[in-house]
Amino acid sequence: MVRVAIVGSGPAGIYAAAALTKAGHAEVDVLDRLPCPFGLVRYGVAPDHPKIKSIAAALHKVLDEPSVRFLGNVAVGTDVSIAELHEHYDAIIFANGAAIDRRLGIPGEDFAGSISATDFVNWYNGHPDAPIDKYALDARTVAVIGVGNVAVDVARVLAKTSDELRITDVPGHVLDVLAASRIEDIHVLGRRGPVQAKWTTHELRELGELANADIVVRQDELVLDDASTEHLAADAGARRNFEALQAWAERPLEGKPRRVHLRFLLRPAELVGDTAVEGVRLVRTELDGTGSARDTDAGCLLDTQLVVRSVGYRGVAIPGLPFDEQKGTVPHLGGRVLRDGVPVPGEYVAGWIKRGPTGVVGTNKHDANETVDSLLADSLLADGLPAAIERDRDGLPALLRTRGVTVVTWQGWASIEQAERDLGAASGREREKIADRQALLRAAGH
Ligand SMILES: Cc1cc2nc3c(=O)[nH]c(=O)nc-3n(C[C@H](O)[C@H](O)[C@H](O)COP(=O)(O)OP(=O)(O)OC[C@H]3O[C@@H](n4cnc5c(N)ncnc54)[C@H](O)[C@@H]3O)c2cc1C
Ligand SMILES: NC(=O)c1ccc[n+]([C@@H]2O[C@H](COP(=O)([O-])OP(=O)(O)OC[C@H]3O[C@@H](n4cnc5c(N)ncnc54)[C@H](OP(=O)(O)O)[C@@H]3O)[C@@H](O)[C@H]2O)c1
Repeated sequence: MVRVAIVGSGPAGIYAAAALTKAGHAEVDVLDRLPCPFGLVRYGVAPDHPKIKSIAAALHKVLDEPSVRFLGNVAVGTDVSIAELHEHYDAIIFANGAAIDRRLGIPGEDFAGSISATDFVNWYNGHPDAPIDKYALDARTVAVIGVGNVAVDVARVLAKTSDELRITDVPGHVLDVLAASRIEDIHVLGRRGPVQAKWTTHELRELGELANADIVVRQDELVLDDASTEHLAADAGARRNFEALQAWAERPLEGKPRRVHLRFLLRPAELVGDTAVEGVRLVRTELDGTGSARDTDAGCLLDTQLVVRSVGYRGVAIPGLPFDEQKGTVPHLGGRVLRDGVPVPGEYVAGWIKRGPTGVVGTNKHDANETVDSLLADSLLADGLPAAIERDRDGLPALLRTRGVTVVTWQGWASIEQAERDLGAASGREREKIADRQALLRAAGH
């Protein structure tokens, strides 16, 4: 029997637990710094994407296995150290994701009114770290920087009415702010051309179905260079994206109350203002024939009081774990953590902290399987895994109790789920998320 601690209950952590369970001789504890499981499936995936959110049901089944325990509200590196985990487990899999935003590195980035998509997504998804009263949405024009799927999520949520989101589980305070939103124009800004955008077709086309917003695309920004043309010929997804953009460029606007402008070849150079954003200075770029873009002498100022920076996520170092500052990931070989370039027996990584913040939920399954294969191969070697000193299964929970850490168990999570259904029922909704950490702990019975 191998005793494994998995740090993080997002898709990567839970797929790793599933692979270990399938292998049949592992006892697994899945730890999460939050009281609730499922990582970005609960706190990243947009609330109006119920099909993807329902992946949580499959993840739930894994945590329901008798050989798997959920220990929520336990932050590794703060509540318990990696060295202490080694005393209680034969192996640790770090699947702690990428919790913070990449920086733009331009002047004015920290002005009031400049927010990261990471924070904004956390807020509308009821993440316990997101202050409840953070946003007012009283700007008429918003700039969303970046043209990936997160930027599309942000633009769509901003463009929808609160009534369209009432059928989801978003917290009540979020619905209140969206209902009072004065936003009319949402500019989604790509620094390269339309073919280089990172969004996927399904997500892009969904924008065209918004009840409350027209999509605006400028024909003169649908520019192709040789690399773009070659890319379109080779990639059916990119072709479909481009066709959708062309159709919008040719379609007359319907006069809906809001507009989502999909803009290209505009590099944000500076957020203008004193202490709060008053505009974004944009440099017009041109494609250089290789798929990259270079600055031209032209540019413009976009008047806006709200900027959402959606330029990617970034991993956070856990004290005691090697970390590549440049990539924001943990160095590894086949999922084995590398310390000074050498694989460390008993330490593994999976998911976004292993390969960086890209890929959909399903991508993490193959990724976690590779990691678990490495772990199981090591467990067969005589000197493959360091023996755990303390084999009592209550060892870690007992240590946490002595520290006053409130551990949310699987039963505690069931109570939170019930409390969220009860809260929803009170306002005629199927479920409403509880965002406040203390309220979550109370709902879990603490
Ligand atoms: C905004 C957004 C929307 C997305 N929408 C979709 C979508 O619609 N469809 C799709 O297929 N994919 C989507 N994705 C991608 C998908 O969510 C990721 O591929 C996936 O969640 C990554 O899994 P992970 O387990 O590596 O990380 P996460 O899901 O981030 O899980 C990491 C977990 O580790 C925990 N943790 C972190 N640090 C610690 C610590 N020190 N101690 C204990 N626990 C810790 C975190 O609380 C978290 O629960 C989206 C991503 C984002 C950012
Ligand atoms: N529905 C879904 O399936 C869904 C939803 C959300 C997220 N996800 C997945 O989650 C992952 C993360 O998504 P993401 O949108 O955060 O990241 P992403 O796909 O990497 O997109 C980041 C965007 O930011 C731009 N960017 C980066 N640095 C910039 C800078 N300095 N100035 C201007 N623009 C800059 C990038 O442009 P360049 O290309 O020019 O660098 C790119 O357009 C992706 O794999 C995504 O598919 C999936």
